Amino acid sequence: MKTSRLSGFYKLSVEERLKIVKEFADLSDEEVELLKTSKIGLDKANAMIENVIGTFELPIGIATNFLIDGKDYLIPMVIEEPSVVAAASHGAKIARVKGGFSTLYTGSIMIGQIQVLTKNPHSAKFEVLKHKDEIIEKANDVESSIVKLGGGCKDLTVRVFDNMIVVHLLIDVRDAMGANFINSVCERVAPFIERITGGKVLLRILSNHCPQRLAIAKAVFDKKAVGGEEVVEGIIKAYELAKVDIYRCATHNKGIMNGVCAVLVATGNDFRAVESACYAYSAMQGFKPLTHYEINEDGDLVGYIELPMSVGVVGGAKANPLARICLKILGVKSAEELARVIASVGLAQNFAALRALVTEGIQRGHMELHARSLALSVGARGDEVEKVVERMLKEGKISMSKAKEILEDVRSHSNSR
Ligand code: MEV
Repeated sequence: MKTSRLSGFYKLSVEERLKIVKEFADLSDEEVELLKTSKIGLDKANAMIENVIGTFELPIGIATNFLIDGKDYLIPMVIEEPSVVAAASHGAKIARVKGGFSTLYTGSIMIGQIQVLTKNPHSAKFEVLKHKDEIIEKANDVESSIVKLGGGCKDLTVRVFDNMIVVHLLIDVRDAMGANFINSVCERVAPFIERITGGKVLLRILSNHCPQRLAIAKAVFDKKAVGGEEVVEGIIKAYELAKVDIYRCATHNKGIMNGVCAVLVATGNDFRAVESACYAYSAMQGFKPLTHYEINEDGDLVGYIELPMSVGVVGGAKANPLARICLKILGVKSAEELARVIASVGLAQNFAALRALVTEGIQRGHMELHARSLALSVGARGDEVEKVVERMLKEGKISMSKAKEILEDVRSHSNSR
């Protein structure tokens, strides 16, 4: 039985971690090699964007302990910031005590916008609604796997402004992020809309605001595992500040996006699109936190997250071979499953940040991780790592030279025994 509950994973060497992940995700030797070298190659890079002169690397870390809807996941995260992977793993570990995360998904409906300039917006609206079935038929008249799989344009609405209308095509994009499909649909139906309205079509583009494509996750964080009643209440108070104060809310939501973006990048998704959607969703409610917390009858902390999630597991997401490997490690089969996983990561991330903030603060964790990476980089191995870390923290001096000095001292003592 595969489990993501990997105690002490952080203490292993990169090679040892890779071995575990290889087994968990059934990676081939070539895939492991690609992870180690991170070479996607200039040819691939050159096919992705314009004017390529090289590639740019970031670390891939694995968040452990995630149990989502009864399935174990190892979560690949690509990010430059220390503590994020550790915090997500820690949040997931506490969520696990009461069964992990349970999730919902509202479907892959996105909006394509067609802006029609007209002096008679009400008449234009009437004509569009009158021809609704024809517009939908034209929208779906295309050779596309999205349409074959039951997706495509499902409905439309019209919004009226001064001197213009905006037609909203409601499009089910199935397992794609959807941008290309939606943009082509908008371009395809635009001439017909011009004809029936007598107006002039200007923009034909998806909206990144997708409140109909939500991933929702819930987790019960056991009171004892959280650190007791006082910590639970502290987290509620921290959440209440985010509800009433935009300054705190921005940081609260940023912590969520730490986890969300790291998985988006790892899986080759358009992180700007999801960020834009998440901030629009928060703004839509008056710039509110994207997570919510309550205390249940047992005194446990119950966390919820609701995120618009325009992600894909086909198309662009698969162009980068490293993203393909990360998707394989994650083991998700659909955009829906990926969205559910990402929402759970966002909740774990936010919970872990709030817990750290209302207890020891986040700097201690940062320092510990920094000390650990220094210990490893000066060559400490096995037990030596903990000894070097502990002494650096105790002495309050965390630097490469201090790590070296302590390691030499540790070794000289163990040799003289
Ligand atoms: C740091 O990247 C994220 C936090 O500031 C989030 C938060 O304050 O909730 C720790």
